[in-house]
Amino acid sequence: MTLKDKNLYYVGGVVRDEILGTQSFDTDFCYEGNAIEFARKSGLNIIKENPDFGTVRVTPPQTSPSRECDPSIDIASTREETYPQAGHLPVIKNIGCSLKNDLKRRDFTINAMAKNTVTGDIIDYFGGIKDIRNKKLKVLHSKSFIDDPTRILRGLKFAVRFGFELDDETKKLQDDYLDNINYDMSYHRLKKELKETFNLNKEEAYKKFIEQGIYKLLGGNITPSQYFPSREGVSALIDKYKPYKPWLVWLGFFDLSNLELTGEEQKIIDSIPNVKPKNNFETYKLFNNLPLETVLLYALSIDYDIAINYLDRLKNIKIKTTGKDLKQLGIPNGKIYKEIFDFLLEEKIKNPQTDEIKLVKEKYGFI
Ligand code: CTP
Repeated sequence: MTLKDKNLYYVGGVVRDEILGTQSFDTDFCYEGNAIEFARKSGLNIIKENPDFGTVRVTPPQTSPSRECDPSIDIASTREETYPQAGHLPVIKNIGCSLKNDLKRRDFTINAMAKNTVTGDIIDYFGGIKDIRNKKLKVLHSKSFIDDPTRILRGLKFAVRFGFELDDETKKLQDDYLDNINYDMSYHRLKKELKETFNLNKEEAYKKFIEQGIYKLLGGNITPSQYFPSREGVSALIDKYKPYKPWLVWLGFFDLSNLELTGEEQKIIDSIPNVKPKNNFETYKLFNNLPLETVLLYALSIDYDIAINYLDRLKNIKIKTTGKDLKQLGIPNGKIYKEIFDFLLEEKIKNPQTDEIKLVKEKYGFI
């Protein structure tokens, strides 16, 4: 990256990750002043300007002619934020404010550092480097969780990702907030953080979620007896079967109605069957069209062995016979095809070596 200016800084997670020596997911830039004016003045290739937020999307200068992809980058102007409605999106003010004021509005000291793109100096007004060394998560001011309760989830996420703990004062602020939650909040943001936290698939996240009472942020009627019936082994199940939405396997038994689940997410939860099939064929039929996450939730709540038998064995059993094969046997198209396919599947589930065509001929006597 050759984008440099004495007022241009790397900011937030990327600086934290560099100090931690871990890989960063994205690189955020912040310009002390007006980023849009900076981009225009510098002749950068501007893709999009957003004056209300003071952000600009540019194509970074080419570093080499052979560069294959050329991802765009966002540069934010320094800005302050206020929360006229606690728990909701902040309102932006003072675009172009001092870097210090921009850093002050952030969630944790470890995320409130910047690195100058010219000098490489790390700007650390709030002790972020020290907190990284001490593995502590510390908010910048006492109203931080009131302004933005999603930060409690972010704290959990960073704690699990980096092996950090909340510092004592921050833990107390979290406890105070969780004893007095304002449920009129942006659940959209909460959901994003929940997904990121539980997609890490760490048992520790779940433990802290329960023990610290963070689950209470979900709202709804949650009592301790409704906790995950069996949380042991969840992580191993997810590692083994790799569902697309691990977070829902972790949280599927909570009341998630505040989160505005998508149709697909809702289906995962609503279709957990509350029955126990009596044989392999019934098991196959029960799970065949269900999302993997639902089968895992069934394993955790209704019957582990039945679900695992399906996932490890039955799920892979397929019949090879097609409608074309049946036609060739002279069987007229109609309802009977489905009956034959079901029959074949049942037989195959009983005996995977079944000779399908032979069986059809024997049973249905065509030809
Ligand atoms: N931030 C904040 N409060 C939030 C969300 C974000 O103060 N509720 C600030 C933090 O300074 C954070 C930065 O915005 O570092 C960027 O946020 P985000 O991209 O969500 O997080 P990162 O810190 O970059 O972490 P990740 O590695 O998970 O992307």
